[in-house]
Amino acid sequence: MPYLCRRMSVNPPTRRKVTTRRLVEMKRAGQPIACLTAYDALTAGVFDRAGIDVLLVGDSVGNVVQGHDTTIPVTLEHMIYHTQAVVRGTERALVVTDLPFMSYQVTPQEAFRNAGRLMKEAGSGAVKLEGGERVLEAVRMMTDAGIPVMGHLGLTPQSIHQFGSYKERGTTPEEADRIRRDAIALQEAGAFSVVLEKVPADLAATVTASIDIPTIGIGAGAGCDGQILVWTDMMGMSMEFRPRFVRRYAELHDAMTSAVGSYIRDVRGRSFPGTEESY
Ligand code: KIV
Repeated sequence: MPYLCRRMSVNPPTRRKVTTRRLVEMKRAGQPIACLTAYDALTAGVFDRAGIDVLLVGDSVGNVVQGHDTTIPVTLEHMIYHTQAVVRGTERALVVTDLPFMSYQVTPQEAFRNAGRLMKEAGSGAVKLEGGERVLEAVRMMTDAGIPVMGHLGLTPQSIHQFGSYKERGTTPEEADRIRRDAIALQEAGAFSVVLEKVPADLAATVTASIDIPTIGIGAGAGCDGQILVWTDMMGMSMEFRPRFVRRYAELHDAMTSAVGSYIRDVRGRSFPGTEESY
C-alpha cells in the first residue's frame, strides 16, 4: 500500500476498486457516478477516501496547476508525472488520464503508443481523449489492446482555437446530430464512457438514453449517468471563474486567504511559534 494511504486511510481494506465494468453496471442499475479531477497524491487521497468513483487527471492541470489560459501547452510527460502522483494517493477510485493535445492527433499508432505509456509508466486505469469520428481508429486500436477509453464530446477545450470561445456546443441541429452520432460511434469503437461537456441538458439526456455506456456530464444537466467537476472550481478556489454549471461546495479561496492572513499576523506579532510549538 502506498505510503500516503498507509498514513491517512480510514477506509476498510475491503472497499472494492472501481473498474470500467463497474461504471457500466452503475449505469444499468441507475446509480449516479461521482467524478472529480485530481492532480496530486494529497487531494486524490482525500477524494478517494470520501468515496469518489472516478478521479480524472485532466489536462485542466494546464489551467489549474500550471497557470496557462488553455490546455494546449500540457505535455504527455506532465500527464505521466501528475498521474503517478494521483495513483499513489488512490486506493479505490478509477484513475483516468487525459491524453494531452498532440499526443493522439497525428496518427492512431502514435496515439496508441502514448496511451500505452499512460497505462504502463503512470499507472492509469484508463485514458480519455477529445473528439468523435476523427479519433475512432485510435480508440479501436486502444480498446482492442485492452486500454480502456473514455470519450469527450461537446465543448472540447483542446479545440479552443478552432471554436474561438468556451460557449456551449450542440446548440444547432447539425452540431447536436454530430454529437449524437459521435457518442454512438465511440461506443461502437469500444469506449467505456463518454464525457459530455457544456451541451444542452435535453441533448445530453437523449445521448445518455441512446447508448449503453455511461455519460459523464459537466455543464450537461441532470440527465447524464454521472457528473464531473474540476475540484478547484467546486471547492471555490478561484475568485474569477464562476461558470453557471459549477456548484461551489466550499469557499477555499476565502478560507485560505483568511488562514494565511492569520499566520502573517502571528509571525509578525511574534505569537507564532508559541512554547507548545517549540522544542
Ligand atoms: O481536463 C479536464 O479537467 C476535463 C474535465 C473538465 C472533464 O476534461
